[in-house]
Amino acid sequence: MTTAIEPFDAVDLIRAKRDRRELTSPEIAWLVDAYTRGYVADEQMSAMTMAIFLNGMTRREIRDLTMAMIASGERMDFSGLGKPTSDKHSTGGVGDKITLPLMPLVATFGVAVPQLSGRGLGHTGGTLDKLESIPGWRADLTNDEMFAQLRDVGGVICAAGAGLAPADKKLYALRDITGTVEAIPLIASSIMSKKIAEGTGALVLDVKFGSGAFLQDIERSRELARTMVELGEDAGVATSALITNMNVPLGLTIGNANEVRESVEVLAGGGPADVRELTVELAREMLALAGRPDVDVEAALDDGRAMDTWRRSIIAQGGDPDAALPVAREQHVVTAERDGVLVEQQALPFGIAAWRLGAGRARKQDPVQHAAGIELHAKPGDAVRAGQPLFTLHADEPARFERALEAVEGAWRIGDAGEPVEDGGPLIADRIGR
Ligand code: URA
Repeated sequence: MTTAIEPFDAVDLIRAKRDRRELTSPEIAWLVDAYTRGYVADEQMSAMTMAIFLNGMTRREIRDLTMAMIASGERMDFSGLGKPTSDKHSTGGVGDKITLPLMPLVATFGVAVPQLSGRGLGHTGGTLDKLESIPGWRADLTNDEMFAQLRDVGGVICAAGAGLAPADKKLYALRDITGTVEAIPLIASSIMSKKIAEGTGALVLDVKFGSGAFLQDIERSRELARTMVELGEDAGVATSALITNMNVPLGLTIGNANEVRESVEVLAGGGPADVRELTVELAREMLALAGRPDVDVEAALDDGRAMDTWRRSIIAQGGDPDAALPVAREQHVVTAERDGVLVEQQALPFGIAAWRLGAGRARKQDPVQHAAGIELHAKPGDAVRAGQPLFTLHADEPARFERALEAVEGAWRIGDAGEPVEDGGPLIADRIGR
């Protein structure tokens, strides 16, 4: 039996990156392919990802890495739809339910939205977990079903199939357990390989910064956004990014079913001001990149057109848009200890608390409890009175309240009128792109 001769040796490439040498295009293409087929071992790839974490990659190397991960799987093509496509990716945050109202809002204007999403792990919940709190709703669609829904309804939110960028799936799981998630070349190539393989014509990135975000520092978020916008444009995808504030939870709900309820409020023309603002701004970006810059986005929220698209999309995926959403068995209300102004409400501790209540999962195979989560009754800047409810914890098991309360200890503060509010500034801090 003859064995194929491999053109490179993983150890040579690890040494090269360790010693700050730029890897060539054929080296990167081979590395990703050899890792995906199991020739390069996990321990070798762990060393490589740590070398990349420490020494970085050039723009050309990042592009090669992204293209190699795309080449590891299928590439979708929506050109047969006969309408433009536009998608959004968020780096994730506490209370970030924007995809839910955004998809139908954009689809209402004749721009198809193929939103392939994931389930959550850790304190930022997954879009599919939220939608699965709607009775009957189904995340897993075949490519034909997805295509039909894009044609007939105009938008779809469904599970990304295993066929898209399988190299990323393997690499991301490895990074997760080797302390190499937070490297910009690795994050950028991971996100963009999936989005480019998905076949969208335009892409808007919501890159978050602040305590509840993946990268806390705004400068690092800007660098990630610039890197991803370049990768998208290099691959022929019209791409832009908003840099948004995740120091405070988004909206008034954190969880799954409660976030669906809040999204429906936004689709009915109401909802919290920050959720509406971000939905509207991202929709304008997505529509402008897809060649529809002049439409009245807010009118479609206020006159029921976006709600109509939402209802059709839920029904198309087996869900009942009128069904009652699950409600938790137990509640625990936390009240203000004095009169004053809420000057602080840190996103990360509230995200962790919601997770401990059962809204998120610790391991991939765990189920989420759809009714678990947190309802906020006040936001930073609001005047509060002693005894007034500040937030309510919802859980199916009361035993979960204690650890959730530990997580939020010291995470909010009531100050005096006139004291500066510590919310990290405006919701939308910057825009990057053409
Ligand atoms: N999300 C991804 O898909 N990949 C990363 O590396 C980080 C966040």
